[in-house]
Amino acid sequence: MEGPANEVVGQLVDRRSVRRFEDRAVDQREVDLILEAAFQAPTAGDQQLYSIIDVRDQQEKDTLSVLCDNQPFIASAPLVLVFCADCEKWPVIYRQAGCQPREPGVGDLMLAVCDAVIAAQNAVTAAWSLGIGSCYIGDVMERCDDVRALLELPDHVFPAAMLVLGYPTEQQAARPKPPRAPMDAIVMRDRYRGHGAYGAESLVSRRVEASGSSFDDWVRSFHARKYDSAFAREMTRSVGEYLSAYDTTGVDE
Ligand SMILES: Cc1cc2nc3c(=O)[nH]c(=O)nc-3n(C[C@H](O)[C@H](O)[C@H](O)COP(=O)(O)O)c2cc1C
Repeated sequence: MEGPANEVVGQLVDRRSVRRFEDRAVDQREVDLILEAAFQAPTAGDQQLYSIIDVRDQQEKDTLSVLCDNQPFIASAPLVLVFCADCEKWPVIYRQAGCQPREPGVGDLMLAVCDAVIAAQNAVTAAWSLGIGSCYIGDVMERCDDVRALLELPDHVFPAAMLVLGYPTEQQAARPKPPRAPMDAIVMRDRYRGHGAYGAESLVSRRVEASGSSFDDWVRSFHARKYDSAFAREMTRSVGEYLSAYDTTGVDE
């Protein structure tokens, strides 16, 4: 592929996850710019169906690092932002104006998760442009009941994405990115093609090549670490339990 067409695309291509940070706080002016970029993301119906928790308390960071699959770099991250899908705030506004809003449903939650994650990604991109690295922590959903209790989230507020941010160490800034799948493995014309048609081996060929292992060995290890892992199973359990409290009927009982 030729080089990036412009600076924005160049930065998107260059961005990589950063998990080790310099031991200094992120300048508050830069935090404000990152948050402003998040606010400027598109949102469903212009509702901004998210709230952002800026975790400053060290004990809270320590607890999050344990709850999120024991990832110690969370505790040492200078900036920790939790992007919550917030289906609570519009009902509050509606009730204030005398409406009788229905219970939020799974459709509302889906939109709120989209809003929260898109805002988070704007924050990631803005941070990178300022020389600040970040990493998503998907495990914020893993023990979401405990995370929700820690952050005192009400019933209809869900921790959709967590970001840890800070100035990258030199080693992290230079770390190579994992190679992506070829474009034609991902982009399908007009209708879903099915992955068998493309070929399972081609889908991950770049990852396998970079690992130096055989296809079978790499995939089996990946399966054990990611898909068949305790964290993936626990995430499915705790998110499933959370979802079961949501209205799926779309009508008031
Ligand atoms: C939704 C989501 C959840 C993630 N959760 C974690 C996590 O819990 N811990 C971690 O170290 N990295 C996490 N990552 C970062 C990915 O591992 C990383 O994006 C991926 O390996 C690609 O590398 P790159 O971001 O450097 O391009 C997550 C990324 C996303 C988008």
